[in-house]
Parts: sequence; structure tokens; C-alpha cells
Amino acid sequence: MTHDKIAVVDFGGQYAHLIATKIRRLHVLAEIRQPEDPVEAFAPYRGIVLSGSPSLSSFGEDSGYTKAIYDLDVPILGFCFGHQEIAKHYGGTVVHGGREWGPADLHVAREHPLFAGLGRVEPVWMSHFDSVTSVGPEFEELGHTVLGAGGGEHRFAAIGSDRLRRFGFQFHPEVDDTVHGDEMIANFVLGICGCRPTWTMESYVEQEVDALRARVGERSVFLLASGGVDSTVAAKLLARALGPERVHLLHVDNGLMRKDESRQVVALLDELGLGANLTFVDASETFLDALAGVVEPERKRRIIGDTFIEVFEREARRLGLEGHLLAQGTIYPDTIETGGTKRADTIKTHHNRVPVIQEMIAAGRVVEPLAELYKVEVRELGLRLGVPREAIWRHPFPGPGLGVRLLCSTGVEDRAHFDELEPRLAEVARRAGIEALALPIRSVGVKADLRSYEHPVLITSGAPWERLLEVAGTIYGEVPHVNRCLWWTGGGAPGRARPLAATVTRERLELLREADHLVMAALSRHGLYDSIWQCPTVLVPLEIDGRGRELAIVRPVHSERAMTATPARLPAALVEELRHELAALPGVAGLALDLTTKPPGTIEWE
Ligand code: XMP
Repeated sequence: MTHDKIAVVDFGGQYAHLIATKIRRLHVLAEIRQPEDPVEAFAPYRGIVLSGSPSLSSFGEDSGYTKAIYDLDVPILGFCFGHQEIAKHYGGTVVHGGREWGPADLHVAREHPLFAGLGRVEPVWMSHFDSVTSVGPEFEELGHTVLGAGGGEHRFAAIGSDRLRRFGFQFHPEVDDTVHGDEMIANFVLGICGCRPTWTMESYVEQEVDALRARVGERSVFLLASGGVDSTVAAKLLARALGPERVHLLHVDNGLMRKDESRQVVALLDELGLGANLTFVDASETFLDALAGVVEPERKRRIIGDTFIEVFEREARRLGLEGHLLAQGTIYPDTIETGGTKRADTIKTHHNRVPVIQEMIAAGRVVEPLAELYKVEVRELGLRLGVPREAIWRHPFPGPGLGVRLLCSTGVEDRAHFDELEPRLAEVARRAGIEALALPIRSVGVKADLRSYEHPVLITSGAPWERLLEVAGTIYGEVPHVNRCLWWTGGGAPGRARPLAATVTRERLELLREADHLVMAALSRHGLYDSIWQCPTVLVPLEIDGRGRELAIVRPVHSERAMTATPARLPAALVEELRHELAALPGVAGLALDLTTKPPGTIEWE
């Protein structure tokens, strides 16, 4: 069966993926296309959406993308940057209009299919620098916005040409603050483009099962099963298509797993009827040997990635599985070049796209049955295939595991930029009426889509949560060389922090495993596990009490796709419990909460 499809042109940031997932929720397949894709690539689509862009401007210079899409006889709808491009292409003007950001009221000019079923005034979300100030001869103004209470009027917030079937919204219908944004998108996709809503999970399973049978033929497949939702659902789908006896699973304990995790993974795969051809290897020695003495985070990551491949190849040889096809749980966002946080994408694809695997892909020896799905869709599919809820809703866990949550240090203070940093911090802290300490170590972050490696600041005085978040924002916004802000949860505020020489060792991993276990148990006990996206516990070798003990950091975040994140608030009672439980571990001196949004911090510390 062929499905009606919509192309979403990705001009950067996370807009395109958000739009695509919203369209897919309407049971219409949406696929991401790159701006420079040749016009022929757009032939299979019944409509095109041009996304916004965090970095491109329609003002001035010509933005490079395939303009020939305007010659196609399919409806096109642009948001923000895309809206301005459409206006400009058809003879309108775009000016640098000053930044506008926040909720606004859209006043719809007349009844129009794009706004079918909606009110004449609709709350929408504006966020832009440039504005459309006039439209070409074929176009009309379909709506204007009024920003905030008593705010200014913004003309041409919605424009269109019914004859050309070209439309544009200055606002963002894909974000939740545009209350009826989903309906506007549905009016375009189902109404104006006339797409049939046939892309359901049921039809996906049917199609994929057929495709897998055709592709794999009489052969068998071999899959690395981490216990994460993607590889588990992929294994289950493969078993549905090929029968469990032709699905060989390998679970590797790299020594960087959570407490008791490998045992649980093996039990889960057994429970799912996938145990017949499951091999479990404890390769923790190999990993820990390779990591011995290493401090630099990128080197740690590379070593973990390389060791994975080494162990994988060794086991494949040992089990005589080299002739099999390799199956991977790669999901849609991992398969496409995308703007936004390139770092996160590169890192995520680390294991799935290393050179050996690339060679196998080129040789046609890799199957990726989830490669068309987003995470939410993988979860839906998993539930449909009988994967238990707890496994479906497990927090994401990075491939390099606890390896990226166990900071290492040579023991030498890293105060490279403190001359500039400390006076600015003192000034901001004085203004905000708080006490704060710059930490002489660094962690990874992301600024303007690039990786940063900068210092955390620890706020050591108390304040209400909202106030802490506000001060944290000011600190990483205004103090140079800072990409994170933490809050000391109480009990003997440190006046000084000194790095301890520390590398990846079994002992430190055991300590982090215990700490992580306590944190996860506390989230579950307070019924918060499901509402929080992810909550890394990080062990930082900073001594604050002269007793050689380390600092534990807890980083609860809310997120939708991990491209951005906001700190999640934990109830005071939970924080108190954790503070005592963690401090009772030998080796932990105290607890700090990470208050950093992403950007500028990343979810992981390394
Ligand atoms: P960051 O730290 O970049 O992480 O904000 C975004 C999401 O990706 C996960 N992550 C990884 N996942 N291999 C993975 O499979 C990795 O190397 C890796 N690094 C980060 C992270 O946990 C978060 O969900």
C-alpha cells in the first residue's frame, strides 16, 4: 500500500521534527527533506511544509535551497522563516523587524480552509526576528496578530494564495502554545493537500513484516540488545517477522551498566520469548582495561565506542554469526542529517554508524526495522507487540553508560579562565543576593549548536526553586566560561572545592551505581519516574570536606526529544531523603542538583 506523504523541509533547529511528528499523529506519513535536496526528491509528496529556522534569515541575501519546489503543483505551507521565504518568492517584502517573542492573538481575516473549525481569534506563539511587510499580487493577508496585552499589531501573520496553493504563518503552529496549531496543521494536510490518513501503526507492522521477510529471505539476523526500548522493540518486530529462532541476540555487559541491569535485560528478553538465541557476555574487564588511566571525556567516549565494536566482532566470530545480517534499532532522527544540536545526533549515531557498520550497510548486510519511526512511535509499536510498559517507559540511557557520568580528573585544578570568570560571578552573585562558587573542573555543554567544555558554578545558599532557576539562568547567561549551574542541597555549604585525582575504576563505578540506584528508587517511590524524561546521577571528583569524598550531582530533566531540556523540580521531601541517603554512601560528600537548561548544558555531563 502506498501512503500519501508530506515533505517537511528542515531549515535547522528542532522545528522540522516537531512538525513531522505532529503530521504523523494525523496518520499521514511525514518525512524530513534537506533544503538542498534536488527537486525530484519532492516528487512523491502531496504537500510540502517549510520549517522555521533558528539561524537563517529571509532578509537580505538569498538563502540557498531548492527553489524549484515552487514550480511543483502541490500545496506549500511555510512557518516563520518558511513563511517569509514564500512571501519573498512571490513578490512580497521582508524586513528586519526586531525580535518578537511570546504569546499573541491571531485575528483571522476571513473564513478560510486553513482555519476551518477555529475561532476568529486564536492564541498563537510568535518567535522571530524578521517580518513580512507586504505580499505579492496573488497573495492576501489571512490574519494579523496582536502581541500580549496592549501589544503592537503584527500584519501579515498569516498569508496565502488559494490559486497557487501557497500559504505562510509567521507564528509556530507546531508548538503547544499555539492552542489550535494541530488543527491548523490538520486543515492543511488532510484538507488542502487531501492526504488520506492511512499511516497507522497497524499498517506499519504489516508492511514492515512483509518487507523484512522479503529482505532477509532464509537468512538469520544478529542484534546487539542493550535492553533499551529501541533494540528491544526491534528484536520483537524481527521475531514477529522471522520467528524467534532466526533472531540471535547479544547482550554485552560493558561494566558501565546500572545496578543489576544486565540481569534484568536478560530476564526481559526471556520474558519476551527472545531467549532462545540470546548470548550474554560479561566484557567489563575488557572495557575497564581499555579505560584505565584515561581522563579526557572525548577519549573515554571513543574508547568505549571502539571497544564495543571489538567485543561485538569477537563475539560474532566466536558464535559463527559473521554470515548473518546485522540488525540495529536505529530510529528515524538518527538516520538523517539534521540541523540543531549536531553533537547530540553525531553522538547518538556513534554505535550505529561507525566505519565497520557503515561498510556493512554499504554491503547490504544491515537491517534497521525502526528506521522510519520516531521514539514515540517506537514506544507505541512496542506496546502493540507486547513489550511491558516498564521497558517501554525506561529513561533513555546513553550507549557509553555510566562512563559519561563518572567524571575523571588528573587532580590538578582547572582554573584556566578564572581570572575573567570569578569577578563576573562575584558581581552577579552580589546583585542576586546569593553565594556561589566556580568549580575548578569542566563539563560538556552545547552553545549555538556547538560543543562547549566549560565550568559549572555551584550556588551554595538557599532560595525558592523559581528564584534558583532564574539566578542560574543569569549566571550561565552572563558569566563567561560557565555552561552549568548547580545548587547545593544543604548541610555544610562548601567554601572551596578541590579536584581529586580520579579515573574510571570498578570502585568508583560501584559507588556511582549505588548512587544512581538510590536516585531511581526515590523517583519511583515519589511517583515521578514517568513524568521525568531522564535523571542522570553524576559523580564528580571534587573534594569539599578534606576527607577525599566526591560530589554527587543529580540532573532531573523534562524533555521531548532530548534536543532541548529544562530542569525538573523535585519535591523538597524527596531532595531531603536523597541528600541523606547519598551522604550515607561511603565516598559521597554531598548532593547538588543541576539547574541547567539545554542549551547551554547537555543532559549528560560528558
Ligand atoms: P546530551 O547529553 O547531548 O544527550 O544532551 C542527548 C540524549 O542522548 C543521550 N546520549 C547518548 N546516547 N550514545 C547514546 O546512545 C551516546 O553516546 C550518548 N550521549 C548522550 C543522552 O542520554 C540524552 O538522552
